[in-house]
Order: sequence, then structure tokens, then C-alpha cells
Amino acid sequence: QDPRIEGIASSIRVVPNFPKPGIMFQDITTLLLDPKAFKNTVDLFVERYTGKDITVVAGIEARGFIFGPPIALAIGAKFIPLRKPRKLPGEVISEEYVLEYGTDCLQMHIGAVHPGDRALVVDDLIATGGTLCAAIKLLERAGAEVVECACVIELPELKGRERLNGKPLYILVESR
Ligand code: PRP
Ligand code: MG
Repeated sequence: QDPRIEGIASSIRVVPNFPKPGIMFQDITTLLLDPKAFKNTVDLFVERYTGKDITVVAGIEARGFIFGPPIALAIGAKFIPLRKPRKLPGEVISEEYVLEYGTDCLQMHIGAVHPGDRALVVDDLIATGGTLCAAIKLLERAGAEVVECACVIELPELKGRERLNGKPLYILVESR
């Protein structure tokens, strides 16, 4: 394992019982307070995706907006925000996904990606995988090829990976 991973893992604060009893919240704001850990996080993704002909990095609101743009800039790809409903001013396509209680939705501007685009989806964390699954569907509906999903943290016991229909998922840290 890359020696930088340990510092990244230990910079993530785990907050028990937030936002609800029983949830062990993985708080990446403490990673952002550690410039070395933050840089190593971005560098590990950039090293993996440089030279892979990624043309678009899609970041998921809100925490995918922190890690996606520095990766996009470094590998020379465009950045697309996948947003929560009613935030984007242009024409959008939408994908709903199921949460523990109720549903949520991601939206993407029509015209942001084109057939032939090679996409990387970036978020901070995969739990049930519902969010990433919706992101993949949006990009594929617009004709992009989703090359991989990249997250800092995976909660493996929730088996979110299984909801990605075989799409590759790259993570830096496993949490439980
Ligand atoms: C969290 C996290 C991921 C998503 C993962 O975001 O940042 O985006 O949940 O969960 P899933 O794999 O079960 O779909 P959240 O929707 O809480 O909002 P935020 O990023 O805007 O804080
Ligand atoms: Mg999120």
C-alpha cells in the first residue's frame, strides 16, 4: 500500500452518532485541515488518471466539489458539477435515488458532456452506492463512457460497490 494512505486515513475524523444515532460519520473536513494529507489525496488520484484520456471529471454535490476540481485541472479535463435539484439554471436531466428515508435527485446540464466523452466520477465517500449509481446513469444517458468512480472513503459493509453494475470503483481508505 502507498505510504501516503496512512496519513490520509488518520486525518479523517470519525464522529459517532452524527447526524443520527448509530451513524459513524466520516468527516473529511479534518483531512482538508491537513495540507499534506489533502495534497496526497489529490496526487494519488492524479497519478492514477493521468494519461488515461479522461475528458471529464464529474463531481457530486457537495463534497465531490472539493476533490473533483483539483483532479480535473491537473489531468486537463473539464469539470462538471452534478447538483441537487433546482440549482442548475440551464436545461437538465435528472436521476432520482433512494435514501434511508425518501428519495433525492441529482441533475446535470444538458450539453455538458457529449458522446465520446470519457468520464471520471468523483465523490468523497461511497456508502450504499445510490448516489454514484445516479451519477453514472446521468453521464451514460448523455452518451459519456464512465471509465471509473473515485472516492476517498468506502464503507464496505454497506456493499455499495455492488450497485455500480460492475463499474470500477477506486478508493483510498476503507472504513468501518
Ligand atoms: C454523502 C456523501 C456521498 C453520499 C454517499 O453525501 O458525500 O455523496 O452521501 O451515500 P450513498 O453511497 O449511500 O449514496 P450527502 O448526500 O450526505 O450530502 P453532501 O455531500 O451534500 O454533504
Ligand atoms: Mg455527498
